[in-house]
Amino acid sequence: MALPGQPERVLSGMRPSGRLHLGHYHGVLKNWINLQHEYDSFFFVADWHALTTHYDTPNQMENNVWDMVIDWLAAGVDPSRATLFIQSQVPEHAELHLLLSMITPVSWLERVPSYKEQQEKLSGKDLSTYGFLGYPLLQSADILIYKASYVPVGDDQVAHVELTREIARRFNFLYGRDEGFIEKAETAIDKMGKKNAREYRRLRTAYIEQGQEDAVELAHQLLNQQQNITLGDKERLFGYLEGGGRVILAEPEALLTEASRMTGLDGQKMSKSYNNTIFMRDDEDRINKEVKAMPTDPARVRRDDPGDPDKCPVWDLHKIYSDETVKSWVVDGCKTAGIGCIDCKKPLIDSIIDEQRTLKERARPYEEDPSLVRNVIASGCEKASEVAEETMEEVRDCLNTDYYS
Ligand code: TRP
Ligand code: SF4
Repeated sequence: MALPGQPERVLSGMRPSGRLHLGHYHGVLKNWINLQHEYDSFFFVADWHALTTHYDTPNQMENNVWDMVIDWLAAGVDPSRATLFIQSQVPEHAELHLLLSMITPVSWLERVPSYKEQQEKLSGKDLSTYGFLGYPLLQSADILIYKASYVPVGDDQVAHVELTREIARRFNFLYGRDEGFIEKAETAIDKMGKKNAREYRRLRTAYIEQGQEDAVELAHQLLNQQQNITLGDKERLFGYLEGGGRVILAEPEALLTEASRMTGLDGQKMSKSYNNTIFMRDDEDRINKEVKAMPTDPARVRRDDPGDPDKCPVWDLHKIYSDETVKSWVVDGCKTAGIGCIDCKKPLIDSIIDEQRTLKERARPYEEDPSLVRNVIASGCEKASEVAEETMEEVRDCLNTDYYS
């Protein structure tokens, strides 16, 4: 839910892992591209998050960052619509992370599922660090500093958004009840006029006493329509509605990205760590060679053995890349042994290469002139900083560390 008077904002981050592959493109970036048309969109490179696990190899960082950003642009993320920036260039993220750490119980962080999971998965690396424990809290700071309404993430990240909500609630509870909060809220209600005031009180009771969720929604609508109360009063009444304090940090919602698992060249999930990827901007000869070498339904030993597309990783890719005509040609041909696997792969290879032409075309100007990418990011960082700084002023005010203002 956006705070009154503010546009709905979407925010997401990606760790800089270098060049992106088709799994990133179809699973994440195409979603970002749709979102940028609907929301005030902020997308950033989570380079500090990368350091929580790769603190020992910082030398790759810079290339990984620029390569990844070029892939975003190649995918069609549009800097005139979305704000693109790098986490470390907006140091307010670190300041908010630090301040939130003051109110975050260590046990909340220890029980985030990814904490133990990742430690086990990356058991070759010492992840018993302070920074790694704080990974999801840094993510909370990333989200809360922009007051994002929605956070598009995969299901592995939902717990991090949930933690973010808990932190926001705790913060608002601790610092959103300035002296006289209740009196101020009651005065603000009266300012809305008799009829609206009565309606607000009714909805508030319906929620607090009867737990009616839709009452919150209705009350938010009512508040958003009010012309004669200040923004501060609106915020106070948003908080008062749910029994808490003034909403300083907004609770975000996860926008779950459909678990679209991209099949890799060996039939496992496409992932850099399995070495089975096709990059978003890959070499045509390599695509040709690698797709030709992809495993198929093992039942098709000989050309005239019929097969079953559902047992074939090549079919998974057809499902993404081929239209209905090609797909029914594949199913028929495979099941009747009417086509061979090489025939079957041909239109797939063509579609992948075709798609890459567009991606490469969009990337070309940025590859030829790296200053263009740097400028996109520099102006994104500037815009992000302004928003982040505004939030920090409120946060510092809450903590009474704003000695000179
Ligand atoms: N942890 C996220 C990932 O690994 C990256 C990330 C960092 C992020 N900060 C974020 C995602 C804030 C969404 C919002 O994918
Ligand atoms: Fe797979 Fe196509 Fe061969 Fe069938 S014909 S096994 S779908 S590659």
